[in-house]
Amino acid sequence: ILALTMALRWRFSAVCTALLMFVDECLQPFRLSVSTLQSVSTRLKKDMIRGLGKHTHHRAPVKMLPTFVRATPDGTEKGDFLALDLGGTNFRVLHVRILEDEQRVVKMDSQICAIPQEIMLGHGEKLFDHIAACLAEFLDSHELKGQTLPLGFTFSFPCEQLDIDKSVLIRWTKGFNCSGVEGEDVVRLLREAIHRRGDYDIGSVAMVNDTVGTMMSCGYRDQSCEIGMIIGTGTNACYMEEMRNVKRVEGEDGRMCINTEWGGFGDDGSLRDIQTDFDLVVDKTSLNPGIHTYEKMISGMYLGEIARLVLVKLTEDKLLFDGQVSDALQTPGRFETRFISEIEDTGLENTQRILTELDLNWSLGDVRLVWLVCDTISTRSAQLCAAALATIANRIRNNRGLDHLKTTVGVDGTVFKKHPNFSQQLQATVRLLAPRCDITFLVSEDGSGKGAAMVTAVAQRLALQPVVFEKLLLEAWGPFDLLVALW
Ligand code: BGC
Repeated sequence: ILALTMALRWRFSAVCTALLMFVDECLQPFRLSVSTLQSVSTRLKKDMIRGLGKHTHHRAPVKMLPTFVRATPDGTEKGDFLALDLGGTNFRVLHVRILEDEQRVVKMDSQICAIPQEIMLGHGEKLFDHIAACLAEFLDSHELKGQTLPLGFTFSFPCEQLDIDKSVLIRWTKGFNCSGVEGEDVVRLLREAIHRRGDYDIGSVAMVNDTVGTMMSCGYRDQSCEIGMIIGTGTNACYMEEMRNVKRVEGEDGRMCINTEWGGFGDDGSLRDIQTDFDLVVDKTSLNPGIHTYEKMISGMYLGEIARLVLVKLTEDKLLFDGQVSDALQTPGRFETRFISEIEDTGLENTQRILTELDLNWSLGDVRLVWLVCDTISTRSAQLCAAALATIANRIRNNRGLDHLKTTVGVDGTVFKKHPNFSQQLQATVRLLAPRCDITFLVSEDGSGKGAAMVTAVAQRLALQPVVFEKLLLEAWGPFDLLVALW
């Protein structure tokens, strides 16, 4: 009996090892060595320069969009603001107060409006009518309709910003694909929708990408925050670039915040060597094939689907679930990205529950292999994000001719916040790829809402500055001297 048990045990562990080896082979293309990550960073560095250049920009996959945000908060900002936040499946309206004395941004009230799928994929006019209706309802219920508060509009899509209140949508990403908006000024579309209603009006508008909102809201707490990063449904980062390098905007002095739109990295095929067959399927079946290649390897909108495709392949190869694929697992979108975080969290119970919900006949061995699949995909996501962040940090250090850079990154997004070890993996890889940068990560509390208010407040502060300066000169010199001096 003993001999038989030993023999069975040996056979069982031999089968498990063989299974693991096959699964590992299938997952191999997701594993990136440090030298590959370094090469990814070098390619991104070149693409960032192309994006900033006057003559290279139009063909650059990494758009490096000027935001017209020229300063981070200095702690003197204050006042009441409205903020709109559009970028995920929900749209939010917020009333925000910035308290200078306490150096705090307070969310007074907020309201969430769901955006139904047919609006996300319908005509743009319907989308903006929906936004204007939600805003009207909010103003009504909070008795704010009579006031024209300055408004910060967080619009988390790639936009060519012509000014702080003029922003042309380049293309939709994530789950949106409304017709008639690409190539149009989003602020104009919002104002037109409000005028169509005719029951209220809005004051000055500042357009903000969510990365910028995140950087600015963290910047109020920590004034060395010069990078904003989002790893949620989509992914992107912004940072403070030297004006002398922003070739598409006049002026050499000071800095401007650049929205990198790093999600578009690889759209010219430059990452083909690291894209797996699964990435290619995810791209092909997405709403926007060929667009936002890097984002599709990193962000929450796509990680679950990559994992599902891998699980289906392993099952078809008889390496999982006794070769039985359930209808649920065959359904695109059914394996949600949040499952990856739940599966990688401590204990195997979550995995067992999720696999049961997906009608899969699992064994303990399957549970372990599913964990391995999720871990491999989320690790690659964290490492790719780290490669991009390291590229930015290294660039800031070089720009300033520093031997060592100490800086802070404001971060937001469900993948970063909810996944149990994403943040550690990201930080460890950044340390490897940017050894001379000491980066502090500050998790943003509602950067998209509060940050939009902060951008509006900083824009107001800067707009007031020349007026105050001219007034002082006028008092000191008199109008004639001032005219001569200005001339
Ligand atoms: C958009 C970015 C945005 C990011 C995070 C991407 O799909 O292109 O503008 O910052 O998602 O929300």
